[in-house]
Amino acid sequence: MDQRERLQVTGALRAGRARADAPSASSRLQGKLVHTCERQTGRLAPWTRIRPDSSAMALHIRDFREADRAALIALWEACALTRPWNDPDADVDRAVTSRDATILVGTVDDVVFASVMAGHDGHRGWIYYLAVSPDRKARGHGREMMAEAELWLKARGAPKVQLMVRQGNETAAAFYTALGYERQDVTVLGKWLTPSPEAE
Ligand SMILES: CC(C)(COP(=O)(O)OP(=O)(O)OC[C@H]1O[C@@H](n2cnc3c(N)ncnc32)[C@H](O)[C@@H]1OP(=O)(O)O)[C@@H](O)C(=O)NCCC(=O)NCCS
Repeated sequence: MDQRERLQVTGALRAGRARADAPSASSRLQGKLVHTCERQTGRLAPWTRIRPDSSAMALHIRDFREADRAALIALWEACALTRPWNDPDADVDRAVTSRDATILVGTVDDVVFASVMAGHDGHRGWIYYLAVSPDRKARGHGREMMAEAELWLKARGAPKVQLMVRQGNETAAAFYTALGYERQDVTVLGKWLTPSPEAE
């Protein structure tokens, strides 16, 4: 069974995950018997045992820890997510000290390979800093990180999740479309409430 089929199977089981630092569903299911579902027809196939896949080790998704900071920011830089006007350290500080935001990291052998920041503004859920290490792309990790972030937001009562994609980031736009995200008929406006770093 490949990684994508496994994720389809585990999707429903993720809803039962109680703690953000528990192993991700795909990790927890390794060695267990599960029903698989054929992608095309939706028919249930016979029971299958999920085996650890040593070539594409399962991602362990957990809350950010202070010891992750340098690796996390290096990941954001490798994924071209940092901008001169956003201090990544300050972004981490704000997220980890807020009750309404979180940073989840995806690790293999406790090495950070993926991240996502999620926040609830009291009305909508928002996603920032979704990143998968360039050498681990196209293995379903981005989809896994988004599934965990969506669960986190849903658990806090967010009825809808939104995100912003920078102009020209066609890869991210195609990725989010594959996950069911739709272009919204809105214009994003912004205004600095502190002295604009762009003016410096
Ligand atoms: C965008 C990003 C997170 C995707 O991560 P990933 O682990 O490679 O994506 P996945 O393997 O989980 O792909 C999930 C789905 O998106 C699709 N997808 C991913 N990249 C795609 C692309 N360039 N074009 C079309 N579809 C794409 C995959 O085909 C897959 O669909 P499927 O499951 O139906 O086959 C990763 O490319 C990244 O870190 N980019 C740099 C940072 C960035 O731009 N972040 C978003 C900021 S808004």
